[in-house]
Amino acid sequence: MKKIALLGHGVVGSGVMEILERNSALLERQAGEQVEAKYILDRRDFSALPYGDRFTTSFDAIREDPEVAVVVEALGGVEPAYGWARASLLAGKSFVTSNKELVAAKGDELLALAAEKGVHFLFEASVGGGIPVLQPLRESLTANHITGIAGILNGTTNFILTRMFQEGMAFADALALAQELGYAEQDPTADVGGFDACRKICILASIAFGSRFDPEKVPTRGITAISARDVACAARWGGAIKLIGRAGRAPDGRVDLEVAPMLVPNDCLLAGVGGVYNAVQVTGDMVGNTLFYGPGAGKLPTASAVVGDVVTALTQPANSRPVPWGPEKPELLRPQEESPARALLRVAGMDRQDLTAFFPDCQLLEPAEEGEEALVTAPSTQGELDAAQSAAEAAGARVLSRITVLEEMGARA
Ligand code: HSE
Repeated sequence: MKKIALLGHGVVGSGVMEILERNSALLERQAGEQVEAKYILDRRDFSALPYGDRFTTSFDAIREDPEVAVVVEALGGVEPAYGWARASLLAGKSFVTSNKELVAAKGDELLALAAEKGVHFLFEASVGGGIPVLQPLRESLTANHITGIAGILNGTTNFILTRMFQEGMAFADALALAQELGYAEQDPTADVGGFDACRKICILASIAFGSRFDPEKVPTRGITAISARDVACAARWGGAIKLIGRAGRAPDGRVDLEVAPMLVPNDCLLAGVGGVYNAVQVTGDMVGNTLFYGPGAGKLPTASAVVGDVVTALTQPANSRPVPWGPEKPELLRPQEESPARALLRVAGMDRQDLTAFFPDCQLLEPAEEGEEALVTAPSTQGELDAAQSAAEAAGARVLSRITVLEEMGARA
């Protein structure tokens, strides 16, 4: 019998228990022995559950128990998860987590510590919920220089955008439903503000480019300012608005990183990803474009990725590959004003002729809405676009919205 301990019995933690129970025979075959959660750490009273006798409030009991080979964390937040991750690894136990905040903040340090102690630090569930994407990125695509990653990385916001614009649901109702279904973070600001997607694109970029990217330094915008008019303009142009996390390698080797609602052309597969589904497009210099798609949040999908990591930790040797990323190299992040950009603008207070003077070679959308114009700018840089927008505003234009177009990320070399 292989014993694990579970920290947190919320949405994901209870999903882990359900999978251990429902798929116990399968997991026994996969792991070579039965897998059982010996401890579940949670302050709340779950004594009425069939496994109610396994609950504890003592992390020390877990750390000191030599039978526990893997500690699974499904709490969220950096503390106390970070302290418990360190203590578990130092005690020679593998650590599996779904906690993107922890991985984005402390991943390099915990990966190094796990390597030093000869155990695993695994976090497949931290990005894309149930989608296998981190392990394929780290292992199956290892023959490639990654040139770009673009993903719909937050199930809650994709669920909200889909419900709002396919069914006309109000933002607050769609958010409440996402919370009820267990998709949203405890504080949904992390979802709608783009911070959750930011942590996830930083984890992906860290694996793809080999060093830590700090979420605090990544330009991040959420979905709260998106209006029905923006969506109508996007549709008229031939695209959809999606909250995208994007990481691209510039020709000089620096990396562009950004999270924002973007205009995704309909011929990009990401445009059709609806509901709580996530999708991550990874482009490699040898393979070209690949797409990873599946449920990005929710109890059983996320727990599926966690339990997959548990079986890996129980069956595979640690340190079979070098640590995937090291400490931050701040010079690797290209300032946003230098990164290429094309954008959909909705503008009031300026006629077409004057607008084209500020945004030469732009594409004006037909028909114009009452009192405003919509245009898609010619390719330039974010900095040039900022300057053109400021000049137009100084001449009386009111920019009602500006949404970057998601560009194709380069194909095979
Ligand atoms: N709140 C997150 C989401 C959960 O909606 O995607 C999965 O990370």
